[in-house]
Amino acid sequence: MTVQKLVIGNWKMNGSIAQLRAFADVALRDVRGCEAALCVPHPLLHAAQAVFGATRLRWGAQDCSAEEEGAFTGEVSARMIRELGARYVIVGHSERRAGHGETDGQIAAKAQRALAAGLTPIVCIGENAEERDGEQTAVVLRRQLLQLMRVLGRTLASVVLAYEPLWAIGSGNTAAPGLIDDTHGAIADMLAFHAGLSAHTVRILYGGSVHPRNAGAIMTSSLVSGVLVGGASLEPTDFMEIWKAATRCSAIAPQRLAPITATSRG
Ligand code: PGA
Repeated sequence: MTVQKLVIGNWKMNGSIAQLRAFADVALRDVRGCEAALCVPHPLLHAAQAVFGATRLRWGAQDCSAEEEGAFTGEVSARMIRELGARYVIVGHSERRAGHGETDGQIAAKAQRALAAGLTPIVCIGENAEERDGEQTAVVLRRQLLQLMRVLGRTLASVVLAYEPLWAIGSGNTAAPGLIDDTHGAIADMLAFHAGLSAHTVRILYGGSVHPRNAGAIMTSSLVSGVLVGGASLEPTDFMEIWKAATRCSAIAPQRLAPITATSRG
């Protein structure tokens, strides 16, 4: 069972080489136990490799092409990202689903391409406020996951999922830990039912208004493998605080992290 938490920062279209250096300085001074990575805009990947190479901080990208290579102007391939030492790539973020019309099929194809290139895809799933209010969360998550399962098959086990309810992103309305647990439990049940994957086989992060004050409470649960952090990942001290919280939660003995079963979840 995975007890090491994972912290992923999503810089979105923010940041600079100077900001990468500021993070490297802090990360070098303040080494943390579990894994953390910053997903930066493509033009910053090369600098991330140069400045984070000597630190425990890893780096990744925020999107990749579903194609391997060729006449796709403006696209960036998973292999190019991997060549710059990246370990992760976010795919299917709600801002790309909404702003670029990305479909579940395209997202699954991107995840497949990322895996083939040796990257770990972080696949974002989640419902919007209307779907939540209409009690459609499970339907939406199942639809998003089924396509992924169909395309990836057993290799789904190598993907990291990020449950990011759209109403929690950038809004300050963090989902309550109980709701996060219930939803992560439901996702684990779907993975078990439809793909035969036992609990904890696939890491499931939570994302949406995570900050230093709530990260520890969210990550205490065994159902939460870590966090995907937007706004708070732009500030080195905030990001380090979240990383510290993840390290503390990773150190909790496995028996205190016994998975919540369907019955105990009620
Ligand atoms: P937020 O963003 O932490 O600023 O809410 C999360 C995300 O969009 O991945």
